[in-house]
Amino acid sequence: MGNELKIGVLISGSGSNLQSIMDACAKGTINGRVVCVISNKADAFGLERARKAGIPALHLDHRAYTGREAYDEALVATLREFDVDLVVLAGFMRIITSVLLDAFPMRVMNIHPALLPAFPGLHAQRQALEYGAKVAGCTVHFVDCGTDTGPIIIQAAVPILAGDTEESLCARIQKEEHRIYPEAVRLFSEGLLQVDGRVVTVSA
Ligand code: GRF
Repeated sequence: MGNELKIGVLISGSGSNLQSIMDACAKGTINGRVVCVISNKADAFGLERARKAGIPALHLDHRAYTGREAYDEALVATLREFDVDLVVLAGFMRIITSVLLDAFPMRVMNIHPALLPAFPGLHAQRQALEYGAKVAGCTVHFVDCGTDTGPIIIQAAVPILAGDTEESLCARIQKEEHRIYPEAVRLFSEGLLQVDGRVVTVSA
């Protein structure tokens, strides 16, 4: 298809969000294609998902590099090899540096399992439970140089129910993740996202 968005996905684990984006591409909901999947972990199940879909699946081991910048240089080189337009972080458990962000300005997205700016960082669902919050959710945002601080694209809320465990809350949130992440990528692929400072708007 013409002007098809070339998506590079970075993962570290299961890759269920990757799957939701691959499925939306296959269905034609997203005018785009996942052209490569890169994991810093060799055993990430998401690599299997990619291979099954016939998508190049690469393991780039962060431990083989001298530091975060050197690792990000390798990521950028690989993403460029595949001519990637949009970088999607989907459970990628690495802090990224300006090396990657400068190479893809406002072209790196992330999903975080909380209603940002509440509960950034690790174990967001546990943080929400321990805080006693009554509502949780997930956020798709553009990535900037902070931790989970970039401009918000879409959020979805879910209730926190009496008796919830971290697992039950994770599952409820993930259902929404699998809906809003492909939707955010779709909006991007159609050129409908405008960013003005912190504020992202969707054109009609
Ligand atoms: C998701 O919960 C996402 O919010 C967080 O990491 C998890 C990745 O899950 N950033 P998966 O690998 O996509 O299944």
